[in-house]
Amino acid sequence: MRILLVGPPGSGKGTQAVRIAEHFGIEHISSGDLLRGHIARATPIGQAADAYVRRGDLVPDGLVMDVLRKPVEAASRAGGYVLDGFPRTLAQAEAAYHVAKDLGASVQVAVSLEVPREELVRRLLERAGVAGRSDDREDVIRHRLEVFDKVTPPMLAYYDRREVLLTIDGSRPVAEVTKVAIEELERVAPTLRD
Ligand code: AP5
Repeated sequence: MRILLVGPPGSGKGTQAVRIAEHFGIEHISSGDLLRGHIARATPIGQAADAYVRRGDLVPDGLVMDVLRKPVEAASRAGGYVLDGFPRTLAQAEAAYHVAKDLGASVQVAVSLEVPREELVRRLLERAGVAGRSDDREDVIRHRLEVFDKVTPPMLAYYDRREVLLTIDGSRPVAEVTKVAIEELERVAPTLRD
């Protein structure tokens, strides 16, 4: 199964991706985690990406594709993936589709997590106090949310047109969101197209 998790910063993409991947026995791949790993190791990709991440801006598509290509191909061969954080623009979704379709690696179902804005800000400010992520500062959190509002709706419309979009209320407790997401994914699994 090849699943995409979409949602604004703080909606629970990472949290739910881990749980869904474990349930289906597939890989969890996070574009944000991979980029933060490159930044921590100060690789050439990390050095190029660092300022974008700190500002809460999107990292250029070429760098993101370079980071993801191998893990996505490997996970597809091994039975599937839960991809968290990529694609997040229509351009990325279209580019990813063209690269992935010949490999049988394209997204089969996109799960969109919806959470009210004030709850997103509350969660991220709470994490800012403990996790030390360079982009969990209030001004940057608000900018990340603005970037999401600007660039991601056309991508959601694209997956809706392809009839692969599942929308889930992400505002409930973690275990409840997981339960609903897994039930919905089990329900659509027999209908998914390669
Ligand atoms: P990325 O790492 O993808 O971050 P994000 O989209 O800002 O999302 P977060 O990781 O903050 O939140 P999440 O939705 O995963 O929620 P989480 O589970 O962590 O991207 C970071 C940066 O990398 C981008 O800004 C960009 O610069 C770059 N980047 C990444 N992908 C890119 C791409 N494709 N193209 C270009 N640039 C890219 O939960 C958040 C908090 O809420 C946690 O503390 C969690 O414990 C809590 N929580 C989760 N669920 C619940 C719940 N149900 N109830 C209560 N609390 C909850």
